[in-house]
Amino acid sequence: MDALLIHGGNPLAGEVRISGAKNAALPILTASLLSAEPLKLGNVPHLKDISTMLALLGHMGVRVTLDDKNHVTLSGESIPHKEAPYEMVKTMRAAILVLGPTLARFGEARVSLPGGCAIGSRPVDLHIKGLQAMGADINIEHGYIHARCKRLQGARIVMDMVTVTGTENLMMAAALADGTTVLENAAREPEVVDLARCLIAMGAKIEGAGSDVITIHGVDSLHGAEYAVMADRIETGTFLVAAAMTGGRVRATHAQPDTLEAVISKLREAGAQVSVGEDWIEIDSDGKLKAVDVRTAPHPAFPTDMQAQFMAMNAVSEGAASVTETIFENRFMHVQELRRLGANIEVSGHTALVRGVPRLDGAIVMATDLRASACLVLAGLVAAGETTIERIYHLDRGYERIEEKLTQLGARIKRVH
Ligand code: UD1
Repeated sequence: MDALLIHGGNPLAGEVRISGAKNAALPILTASLLSAEPLKLGNVPHLKDISTMLALLGHMGVRVTLDDKNHVTLSGESIPHKEAPYEMVKTMRAAILVLGPTLARFGEARVSLPGGCAIGSRPVDLHIKGLQAMGADINIEHGYIHARCKRLQGARIVMDMVTVTGTENLMMAAALADGTTVLENAAREPEVVDLARCLIAMGAKIEGAGSDVITIHGVDSLHGAEYAVMADRIETGTFLVAAAMTGGRVRATHAQPDTLEAVISKLREAGAQVSVGEDWIEIDSDGKLKAVDVRTAPHPAFPTDMQAQFMAMNAVSEGAASVTETIFENRFMHVQELRRLGANIEVSGHTALVRGVPRLDGAIVMATDLRASACLVLAGLVAAGETTIERIYHLDRGYERIEEKLTQLGARIKRVH
C-alpha cells in the first residue's frame, strides 16, 4: 500500500495551479443522466472519486470519452441500468447523486444505501423525503433505495438540515419535474451554484442558487452543453495553510477567491498576509502564527472540509484555540495521529482544544479520511525529521498530484510503494 514520506522544515515558495473542484465535478458528472445529448466538461480533476463516478456512470450506460487531459464528454442517450450498486456506493457516498436525475428522467432508480462512513453516520433521509414530496414512491429493500414515479411533480420542500448533496440531488430532480419546486433551507455552497450554472447551460430554469431558497421551474427535457468546473476551494485552502505553516510565500493560481472568504479571514487572523486578485490568492507568512478559534458550519461560514487542516496549523501556532465541528459527528480522527507527532490537543464532545507546541516530531501516522490525510501532510511539512503517512489512498480521493505540486513548491515529499 502506498505511503507518503515527508521531510519537514522547508518553507514553501512559488506558484501552484489549483485543479477543478471534486465536489462540484461529482454532481455535474451526474447531470449527464438528465439529457440524451452530450455534456462536455472541462477542468475535471484526475482523482480517485472522479474515476469511481465515471465507472458508475459507465456501468449505468453513459458513454464516457476523455478527449484530452481535462476534458470529459458524457453521453446519456440510453441508460439501460438505472442502478448504483453497493460495491460502488460503499467506496463513495456521492454516488447517491445519481438518484435524483435518474428518477426524474426515467421514472425509476435503484441506489444502494450508503453505509456508515469514517466521519459519522451521514444518512440520506433528506434526499428521500424531498423526492417523496415530489411524488416519488420510495421503498427501502435489500439495502437499496428503490424509487419510482410517473413524472415528478414540483413541490415546496423545507429541508430540516442544510445538506449539500441533498440540495444538489433535489435540484437535478426538479429540473425535469412537472411544475415549480422551491427548496427552502437549501445549501449555499459554491458547488451548488456551479451545478446550477451547468444545469442552466443545459436549459434548466433555476433561480436563487447560492441563497437558501432555490426555485426550479421544471422543463420537459434538457439539452447538451459545454461547461468548465469551478476551482477547488478546499485544495486552495489546503495549499494556503501549507504556506502559512511553513513560513512561505505561495500564489495559488486558477483559483476562486470569492469562495474562500471565511478561510482567508481566519488565515489573516492567524497572522499571515493574504492578497487576492481575480483568480489568484497569494499568501506570505513568517511561520509565526497565532492559534485561531474555528467553528464549522454551512457556507458561507467556515467549511468542515478545512477543519482538520486548521487543527494542524493551530497545533504549531502560539497560544490555544478551540476547533468546533458542528457538521459531522465523528470528524476528529486526525487528533490521535497529530498527537503521535507531539501535538497537544484535548477533545471534549464536538470541540477540540488545541494548545500550540513549539515543534512537532516526525513519526509514522495513518490517514483515516480525505481531509484528515491532508492535515497529516501539513503537519509532516513542519515536523522535525521524517513523517510517514500510511493509507494515502484517502488523499488520492481529493487531491490531484499533491506530492508533485508540493515538490514544485520546495517540499521534500515522496511516495513509496
Ligand atoms: C458534502 C461534501 C463534503 C462536505 C459536506 C459538508 C460532496 C460530494 N461532499 O457532503 O465534502 O464535507 O458536504 O460541507 O459535495 N444529513 C442528514 N440527512 C441527509 C443528508 C445529510 O442528516 O439526508 C446530515 C449529515 O449527516 C451531516 C449534515 O447533514 O451531518 C451535512 O451533510 P451533507 O451536507 O449532506 O454532506 P454531503 O453532501 O454528504
